[in-house]
Amino acid sequence: MKDTYILGIESSCDETSAAIVKNGREVLSNVINSQIKIHEQFGGVVPEIASRNHIEAISNVVGQALKEANITMEEIDAIACTYGPGLVGALLVGISYAKALSYALNKPLVATNHIHGHIAANYITHPDLKPPFLCLVISGGHTHLMHIKDYTEFEILGKTSDDAVGEAFDKVARVIGIGYPGGPKVDELAKEGKTTIELPKTHFDNLDFSFSGIKTAVINLHHKMPEMNKADLCASFEKVITEELIDNTSKASKKLNIKKIALAGGVSANSYIRKKFLELQKQGYQIYYPEPVLCTDNAAMIASAGYYQYLDGNKADLTLNAVPNLGTVLRGENSPLRDRSQSKI
Ligand code: KG4
Ligand code: ZN
Repeated sequence: MKDTYILGIESSCDETSAAIVKNGREVLSNVINSQIKIHEQFGGVVPEIASRNHIEAISNVVGQALKEANITMEEIDAIACTYGPGLVGALLVGISYAKALSYALNKPLVATNHIHGHIAANYITHPDLKPPFLCLVISGGHTHLMHIKDYTEFEILGKTSDDAVGEAFDKVARVIGIGYPGGPKVDELAKEGKTTIELPKTHFDNLDFSFSGIKTAVINLHHKMPEMNKADLCASFEKVITEELIDNTSKASKKLNIKKIALAGGVSANSYIRKKFLELQKQGYQIYYPEPVLCTDNAAMIASAGYYQYLDGNKADLTLNAVPNLGTVLRGENSPLRDRSQSKI
């Protein structure tokens, strides 16, 4: 079979990224221009600043991705870009660039859901991984427990009813003053702490999550007792969050009788969460997670997810628009045209 080369473009938040991926699994290049340093001074991503920086970076990032992959534009089979969820102005930069390339080169355009991209990052790290499996997508914007029925067929089993996990990490880190982005800082500091502080754990009968209670509890404790050991606070916070993630994932696993579990998204880079999920292997679970650079936002994951859409014949046209609150929809429903009027998260 002829090899398929996808150019992936990602610009949904604060990373401008372009990648070339062969046959959905082999990364030939994955250029990531992060704006973290720019947004650090504001303690979070400023949407307007993000859009402007995407505009400045995108041409160079795409050019670099082609150069590193040693491939020409003409050799690309399709262009896959993130069309949601994300920041509208940021998304529009990647979409406009992808549409212009698609038009100028007369190459198919594939609209990719950012969450599907996070899931697909696992296909790159684990060439043997095939659906069906469960995937816990934990990032700064999302906390979704999903049933991956096939490469382009997904079902959301549970999601957060308030904050995303990464959002809770970032807010806790900001309030206790350990910096931005909070996830990696909490991860590091927690390694020096003990899990001795009692924090509330949320439990629902269904498979949904809630993280605002624990976030507020940590913040209140810190305000009342600023002398409290921050490392212990971080370690205790991570412990309860991880228990909540594992409780729901194992509940879903029993319900669907699936023991293959993948983690995805920025928070899946967390060392404590990884360790605890890996311990489930003793109970017969198979655990997968992407290598760290593929956990956080990148275009290789978008090219991989886009490859499976492309194989399915799911192409977009030049009317493609950004869908900031795009959810994860079932097969046949994920046409960008139809999604545009919907808000499914
Ligand atoms: O997937 P991602 O790059 O962007 C979204 O799609 O949201 O995830 C970013 C999130 C941030 O909240 C960041 O603090 C968190 O992932 N994160 C981590 C770690 N590395 C990144 N959270 C916990 N532990 C980490 N090591
Ligand atoms: Zn993301």
